[in-house]
Amino acid sequence: MGKILVTGGAGFIGSHTVVELQNDGRDVVVLDNLSNSSEKSLERVEAITGKKVPFYKADILDREALEEIFSKEDISAVIHFAGLKAVGESVAKPWEYYENNIAGTLTLVDVMRKHGCKNIIFSSSATVYGNPAFIPITEECPKGVCTNPYGWTKSMLEQILSDIQKADNEWNVILLRYFNPIGAHKSGTMGENPNGIPNNLMPYITQVAVGKRDHLNVFGNDYDTPDGTGVRDYIHVVDLAQGHVKALKKIEENAGLKIYNLGTGRGYSVLDIVKNFEEATGVKVPYEIAPRRPGDIATCYADASLAKKELGWEAKYGIREMCEDSWRWQKNNPNGY
Ligand code: NAD
Ligand code: WQD
Repeated sequence: MGKILVTGGAGFIGSHTVVELQNDGRDVVVLDNLSNSSEKSLERVEAITGKKVPFYKADILDREALEEIFSKEDISAVIHFAGLKAVGESVAKPWEYYENNIAGTLTLVDVMRKHGCKNIIFSSSATVYGNPAFIPITEECPKGVCTNPYGWTKSMLEQILSDIQKADNEWNVILLRYFNPIGAHKSGTMGENPNGIPNNLMPYITQVAVGKRDHLNVFGNDYDTPDGTGVRDYIHVVDLAQGHVKALKKIEENAGLKIYNLGTGRGYSVLDIVKNFEEATGVKVPYEIAPRRPGDIATCYADASLAKKELGWEAKYGIREMCEDSWRWQKNNPNGY
């Protein structure tokens, strides 16, 4: 096998995946336009693995830049993380999201096929299930109505990549539907680095804990869940990263088209997370009950048994370690990278 191109490899999930790929002996090349990340994440990767991370600062919309990378490097598979991911921003800027995520992926895939590279692992999301038809969510659960343009880009890209694979069975396409990634590398040197006010629960909690925010707003306590707050399937980012290493092995067995949920199969409420975080770290997280956030659903957690059966992958880390590791990163790096 040749090299693995990781698009969006400077980002949260991408950088953790580069660590696991290099630890697995893979030859990795990273492409990122740094629109939502810092090159420092790759220095941290190098410090952990002791290996260089060849890096191209480039945009997936830039065909010439992609041509150059595919001409210079012997790329045999792409793990495609690059994309914009802020749900609220996507509602305000739909054109930017469709352009970046969809046109960017179409350009990437076109350059790939011209260079005879027809292996791709795509970062999809549990958001494609919309308000899920059943819980726990298996891959058989029908895709649903997304509540924002970000979600639609994932749903549409799944369709596009599936159609491309169906038309040309030299393609191997693996769609990985992530549940809620949190946690950080055990070293405390790498983690999630959101710009501005965090949208997601765990970075918001760690910023409250470190004193950057006053309190957590809990978005609704009148959902049909055990304590009334939203229930999600939180998964440690290192587990998620290892799922990509396994998916790559599947690609090499000529997978065709495959779809896997990457989650733990366990649901935790917002208040469960606050309690677990406080117990794991000894730091208090003041919170207030606030109105529901538009577009949120009550409950979302995976049935991840297909990934276990077909990839030999399952999540190893529990909620306590997810909290400890998120906190170690935030505490050591209060202002991110
Ligand atoms: P992230 O923002 O940290 O990483 C995405 C990276 O892509 C960033 O480094 C950004 O600079 C880069 N990028 C964006 N547009 C680009 C472009 N046009 N060209 C080149 N690089 C570009 O986000 P993440 O949390 O690591 O997410 C990685 C992928 O997983 C994304 O596709 C995201 O939608 C998907 N995903 C994330 C979550 C989550 O909750 N974090 C859940 C499900 C799916
Ligand atoms: C989790 C729970 C909130 C913040 C999002 C995207 C999804 C995927 C993962 C990319 C919910 C509650 C949150 C806060 C709160 N991303 N919450 N106060 O919404 O499950 O999923 O990230 O694909 O597409 O939609 O994650 O972390 O935002 O929220 O009470 O300040 O925490 O209501 O119940 P979500 P989240």
